[in-house]
Amino acid sequence: MKERSNGKGNGAAKPGANGHEVSSREHPSGGPALIVGGAGFIGTNLADRLLRDGWTVRLFDNLSRPGVEQNARWLKETHGDRFDVRVADVRDAAALREAVRGVDQVFHFAAQVAVTTSLADPLHDFDVNARGTVHLLEALRAVDRPPSLVFTSTNKVYGGLEDVPVTQQCRRYEPYDLLTRTYGIGEDRPLDFHSPYGCSKGAADQYVLDYARSFGIPAVVFRMSCIYGPHQFGTEDQGWVAHFLIRALEGRPITLYGDGMQVRDVLFAEDLVEAFLLAQANVHDLSGQAFNIGGGPENTTSLLELIDLIEELNGEKPVVRHDDWRIGDQRYYVSDTRKFRVATGWRPRVGVQAGVQRLHRWLRETRGISGRDPRRSPASISVPVAGVKAGR
Ligand SMILES: NC(=O)c1ccc[n+]([C@@H]2O[C@H](COP(=O)([O-])OP(=O)(O)OC[C@H]3O[C@@H](n4cnc5c(N)ncnc54)[C@H](O)[C@@H]3O)[C@@H](O)[C@H]2O)c1
Repeated sequence: MKERSNGKGNGAAKPGANGHEVSSREHPSGGPALIVGGAGFIGTNLADRLLRDGWTVRLFDNLSRPGVEQNARWLKETHGDRFDVRVADVRDAAALREAVRGVDQVFHFAAQVAVTTSLADPLHDFDVNARGTVHLLEALRAVDRPPSLVFTSTNKVYGGLEDVPVTQQCRRYEPYDLLTRTYGIGEDRPLDFHSPYGCSKGAADQYVLDYARSFGIPAVVFRMSCIYGPHQFGTEDQGWVAHFLIRALEGRPITLYGDGMQVRDVLFAEDLVEAFLLAQANVHDLSGQAFNIGGGPENTTSLLELIDLIEELNGEKPVVRHDDWRIGDQRYYVSDTRKFRVATGWRPRVGVQAGVQRLHRWLRETRGISGRDPRRSPASISVPVAGVKAGR
């Protein structure tokens, strides 16, 4: 693993909070880190970490996602003046050109994030996700020495995976194929964009890789599975782990689309942030490449299994309703993260039970919801969740 070397004064690599080796640029002499979509769930978790590590941070966000203004407020209360928020839109090329000025690293998370809303308004989805990303890339291309970029793509670029035969095992689907069952879906899967969201994110994913190839912009693409954690305002359309927990805490019904045996790998935000830092620290080796990022085969859950876990945490069964399958819903998606692991040493540290418990606690605290405090350690939770390992 090599450090990033862009002539801006990097230090030597040293272990990070999770034991990964990360760049020691905790008090960088260069400019701020720019997080486009930085008031969102993932952006806030990253901003918090960067600010704790001594960076200055610039957030660029139009605050269109309901709830995210609370994230911006929380960051301000927690970190004071070492960051600024530019309330602006990625469809505004001039605002992006202004925002990238003098920055050292860029993370691009701003997006229309849901398949459902992309079906309702494909043009808006295209404008934000595809055109907005090209605006950002053009802004970077106009800079003399472009800062490095990490872009968050999605597993949806691999389509519905209908050709991956699955079998039913208890309350989940599992692939027949031993290799897929053991390692998950790798980056060698053919791209197969489903839904306007899949198309717009997939196009952006390809533009980022091509700007690395054609214009030498140092850039890495993460094709991400389900991410969950504090600061997530999950809805029925996106952020299902948080959404299920919120519904259950509020005593409102959860709708399961399909039979609930769909399996996903889930990744706790803290582990994702660690991966972002590693991607930036190693960007000159990784540039121009896409990586599947998620909890991997050791951190999977079906929807039904998550509901069992929530019942365990809340002490009562959530109310569940059923509806038809949604377009493009994969029966099984688990990331094969070996490529990124080999490149950087990264691996997820927070297991499903520990992570869900932490999100549950955050939701209860921030919503002032009292109730049973799940004081038992994650390892002592007895719910039988296949494929789910207790967290560290
Ligand atoms: N959360 C997941 O499970 C997941 C999985 C795969 C990929 N992703 C991708 O990761 C990124 C971040 O996801 P998230 O969960 O933090 O979502 P989020 O909705 O919490 O954050 C996105 C942020 O972008 C902002 N935004 C939306 N449209 C904008 C626009 N036109 N201009 C400026 N800002 C705008 C929103 O206000 C929000 O703060 C997205 O690109 C998403 O597609 C997320």
